[in-house]
Amino acid sequence: MGKTYKAVEVSAPGSLRIVERTIPEPGPGQVRIRVEACGICHTDAATVMGAYPGLTLPRVPGHEVVGRLEALGAGVSKWKIGQRVGVGLIAGEDGVCESCRRGDIVNCKSPVVSGVTMDGGYAEVMVAEARGISSVPDELTSAEAAPLLCAGITTYNALRNAGLRGGDLVAVQGVGGLGHLGIQFARHMGFRTVAIGRGRDKEKLAKDLGAHVYIDTTAEDANAALQRMGGARAILATGTSGDAMGTLVSGLAARGKFIVVGVPQDELRLNAFPLVFGGRSIYGSLTGTPIDGEDTLAFSVLENIRPMIETVPLEQAADAYARMMQGKARFRMVLVMGQYGLFGRSAEVEAAWLPHQGQP
Ligand SMILES: NC(=O)c1ccc[n+]([C@@H]2O[C@H](COP(=O)([O-])OP(=O)(O)OC[C@H]3O[C@@H](n4cnc5c(N)ncnc54)[C@H](OP(=O)(O)O)[C@@H]3O)[C@@H](O)[C@H]2O)c1
Ligand SMILES: [Zn+2]
Ligand SMILES: [Zn+2]
Repeated sequence: MGKTYKAVEVSAPGSLRIVERTIPEPGPGQVRIRVEACGICHTDAATVMGAYPGLTLPRVPGHEVVGRLEALGAGVSKWKIGQRVGVGLIAGEDGVCESCRRGDIVNCKSPVVSGVTMDGGYAEVMVAEARGISSVPDELTSAEAAPLLCAGITTYNALRNAGLRGGDLVAVQGVGGLGHLGIQFARHMGFRTVAIGRGRDKEKLAKDLGAHVYIDTTAEDANAALQRMGGARAILATGTSGDAMGTLVSGLAARGKFIVVGVPQDELRLNAFPLVFGGRSIYGSLTGTPIDGEDTLAFSVLENIRPMIETVPLEQAADAYARMMQGKARFRMVLVMGQYGLFGRSAEVEAAWLPHQGQP
């Protein structure tokens, strides 16, 4: 094994470039991962544009990371060399702030954030905190598992923690990286699932992913359409436009919940009337913990949920990032290092799985 590895770093706002770095040794409580795949999330824009609070450049983005452990730092006992693991956005808590002391580690006041406070997964090698990693089941290839560790966990957690009941009308706004997984989770959790997107071109894809109904906001009034169906018990808002997001609160049923997971740069446009008259509520939800990540992967295996991905080599990270930003990804760009990211399933699972899926 060489002494260096390739990484794609943000050296100045807006510029992604390939660099060669010396392989680091993991410190106490850390692990070193030979990265096999890393998804490109819209949140990476905050690193690429240098806008994430507390960020210093140069920085390697990437927080949908899957790879194999190749070195363990002092004091790491739970994990084994060779084991396949994943890293999401919030990948380590300080353990001492009030949120942590109350057991709410995802809302830690000074968390370790992959691709922001430490280098992330647009690289052949990544060092992570052992407490911040999740184990990855054999049934998923690394490229399939990667997007589940941010786009997946975020939508899965938001839906499962919303106090919904089977059969409830649940709408997912935005059919992108997060949205296309949110639709699948909503359907497989037993909700009457509505996808809300712009234009007709995503209608078939949204229905193939499990949406019972597709609303095209360029052709119809989404709130009126939702109200005709009785109003949504929850709307999972994954879009990147605050203007388009806030107005949808009127599509909720009385006591319905508007769950904000998308982080638009502009402000949300909100009207107090539907909040007050009908007791509707709006709140945000931030990704999840490493064990929530394992739950997301397990549920995806259980229900045969997979992200729809386009894989590209690490060297093409800048192009793949641009494709995501232009809304052209269907639905997640995933960087794969060599051919490794396309594997992962054990031999037995591979044999049982391939005849069903008809694809590698
Ligand atoms: N809460 C969390 O923990 C968390 C985790 C990950 C990401 N995020 C955030 O979630 C958002 C989505 O991330 P992603 O990776 O899914 O991004 P993405 O794949 O680029 O998808 C962007 C989505 O935004 C929608 N959109 C873009 N412009 C719009 C407009 N003018 N009006 C309405 N909708 C518009 C698109 O909807 P159409 O279907 O209509 O094209 C698409 O579904 C980002 O803001 C990201 O930072 C939050
Ligand atoms: Zn993300
Ligand atoms: Zn904390």
